[in-house]
Amino acid sequence: MSNEAIYIHGTEASEQDRLRLLNRLTNRPFIDYLAIKRPIKILDVGCGLAILANEIAELYPNCEVYGIEYSVEQLAQADQAPNLKLQQGDAHHLSFDADTFDIVYCRYLLEHVKNPVQVLQEMHRVLKPNGEIFTQENNIAITVYDPDCSKWDTIWQKFINLQTDLGGDGLIGKRLYGMLKQANFQRIELSIAPQVHGFEDVQFDDWLLNIIGNAESARDKFIKYNIATSQELDEAIAELEALRTNENASTIFYWNRAKAVKL
Ligand SMILES: C[S@@+](CC[C@H](N)C(=O)[O-])C[C@H]1O[C@@H](n2cnc3c(N)ncnc32)[C@H](O)[C@@H]1O
Repeated sequence: MSNEAIYIHGTEASEQDRLRLLNRLTNRPFIDYLAIKRPIKILDVGCGLAILANEIAELYPNCEVYGIEYSVEQLAQADQAPNLKLQQGDAHHLSFDADTFDIVYCRYLLEHVKNPVQVLQEMHRVLKPNGEIFTQENNIAITVYDPDCSKWDTIWQKFINLQTDLGGDGLIGKRLYGMLKQANFQRIELSIAPQVHGFEDVQFDDWLLNIIGNAESARDKFIKYNIATSQELDEAIAELEALRTNENASTIFYWNRAKAVKL
């Protein structure tokens, strides 16, 4: 299966807009997580539109930031500060020498690759001794809504199954510890980044739009593989749309994070 065939979201303009929205929601906490303190060399693996890599490059002009991304469609829309270098490439075979970077990170990538342990082994290889890896991934089975959204939950389970059938893993966040161990990382620290919103939170509506966008990004595949009809998808999405105007509504999710060291 090719990298593109595994990638459930595709690279349509509407999906790229969703990715921009997701970056607006999650970049600042992730940059805080990296805690960059001095001029260093950083690699973003699977950088997508390079929004995060670019923000880091602009915030830390004395750092050298690199991004690799498989999709030429994503790279064509990428942001690029002067100290950010982007390359087209496959995360399974990084084109960098061993012991090159102080920090390597990937975000929302491992769920989409053929062999996530191989990707982590490559990230290990290109890190300098004592260099650090940071990851943030999801386990989308833990998404919760109040009021309940039963039609949405059915479609979401089908989305999880479709991603698995395509060769990805929407639950991969829960496997970070074991995979980092297999890739020979040490001092592994797991944590979570909450995405917990009530109706009045500034991020509530954008978070729901991001979730709806996930299902929309796979609409063609749902129909192509007879997983759900367009009407079933519309009815499920209508439940989340109703939450957007329900002043009693709330939602809970958390990202799985892991950082570790190459000794
Ligand atoms: C959900 S996006 C996340 C992008 C970015 N990390 C971010 O946080 O905005 C996942 C990206 O990984 C890329 N990707 C998937 N498989 C890849 C691979 N084997 N090598 C490099 N990039 C890959 C996709 O093309 C897509 O742009």
